[in-house]
Amino acid sequence: MPANIVVGTQWGDEGKGKIIDIISSRADVVVRSQGGNNAGHTVVNNGEVYKLHLIPSGILYKDTLCLIGAGVVLDPKDFIGELDNLESRGISTKNLKIDPRAHVVMPWHITLDGLSEAFRGGKDIGTTKRGIGPTYMDKYERCGIRVYDLVHPDVLAEKIQTTGKLKNKIITEVYGGNAFDLDAVTAEYTEYGKRLASYVDDVSVLTFEADKSGKTIMFEGAQATLLDIDFGTYPYVTSSHPLSAGVCIGSGVGPKMITNIIGVAKAYTTRVGKGPFPTELDDETGDKIRNVGGEFGTTTGRPRRTGWFDAVIVRHSVRVNGLDSLAINKLDTLANIDTLKICVAYKKPDGSVTEHFPAVLEELDGCEPVYEEFEGFTEDISQCRNFDELPKNCKKYITRLEELVGCKVSMIGVGPDRSQIIER
Ligand code: GDP
Ligand code: IMO
Ligand code: MG
Repeated sequence: MPANIVVGTQWGDEGKGKIIDIISSRADVVVRSQGGNNAGHTVVNNGEVYKLHLIPSGILYKDTLCLIGAGVVLDPKDFIGELDNLESRGISTKNLKIDPRAHVVMPWHITLDGLSEAFRGGKDIGTTKRGIGPTYMDKYERCGIRVYDLVHPDVLAEKIQTTGKLKNKIITEVYGGNAFDLDAVTAEYTEYGKRLASYVDDVSVLTFEADKSGKTIMFEGAQATLLDIDFGTYPYVTSSHPLSAGVCIGSGVGPKMITNIIGVAKAYTTRVGKGPFPTELDDETGDKIRNVGGEFGTTTGRPRRTGWFDAVIVRHSVRVNGLDSLAINKLDTLANIDTLKICVAYKKPDGSVTEHFPAVLEELDGCEPVYEEFEGFTEDISQCRNFDELPKNCKKYITRLEELVGCKVSMIGVGPDRSQIIER
């Protein structure tokens, strides 16, 4: 006690890394419970930039226990690269533990991610090509390789032969690709297993015991609500449950442990990858937000699509995550835009208006955003540290946003550094 969850409320990259880093400074334990290295979380401390993909952001605090739960999919090669990178920058990884139940991203998952995207032609999802979907497919097919297997060479060798033969058949006979040399894969992954063996421990037990002994726990969300496999813009989603409820399944704790749920949003909206985006700005304002906000993917470097804040989306997130409060980042990016807009509802093709995000893309199709307009601001807000210091137009924007989504805003980001935050 207490146990906080931080989740993304839009399509990812809301600045969760920064908020998690700030809250981690007050946490004893930080837990990742879903997704993989498709995530890219940026933390900036005094000009030092850290881009974390799989390792919980709490790693930057030397005494914080960092846990990777059963619901995560772990690419050992990439993970070891991240470990080495942190160690070379003087960050210790000795307090890091990985659940033996977590599934391993194998090289064929990455190949199949690319092949199935190509097979979809123009209807590709725009995945990060990190093998995330194919790894979760094997998990649910019950033929996946887990972290326990990775660190037990005999088990690993046997599983690579069984599952690898099938994967090679699919790659060569369905897609016309090249087969993997399974002996070479076994040799390579056995080495990764040796390197990771000392990190393996039961995350469910560690989290439960930390909670019982009164420690403060923070569950670090990756991806976001509209990328959730059920409550996002299916099929343009990821293959896990980034919602607050996904935390319990993905780390092996009961829902009664959770005491506070914080949603993170940007003061506008971005999306990387394909799929619908009702408030997208395909104009100079959109370009300006992209350039001023540095909206280029942390994981893939792709330019992010940009648009106005969509209260319909964040209202949906408030509901499906049970949010207690919101952190709104990047308000500073909206400076020097004459008129700001917030989408308050959608007008459907039959002329009716809805405040709820449609359940399926067929119903979202043809919906037009209904906007409310706000006078912009020109002041540099990057040094503001309390709400009263903000220009009047910023205060109006945030106050109305709170009303529209039905949730209080407890933090406002005014710059990328961990110090550039207004807490209320
Ligand atoms: P995450 O995936 O949700 O952790 O977000 P990313 O790290 O992928 O992308 C957010 C980007 O915005 C990063 O480059 C952050 O350094 C930056 N950022 C976060 N909060 C703020 C803010 O309040 N203002 C500005 N200007 N940048 C921010
Ligand atoms: P963080 O944690 C933004 C998107 C991809 C693609 C879709 C499916 O940094 O917010 P996948 O590789 O998961 O199968 O791709 O999901 N996506 C993200 N977009 N931020 C992320 O993570 C994302 N993780 C996946 O761009 O549209
Ligand atoms: Mg990101």
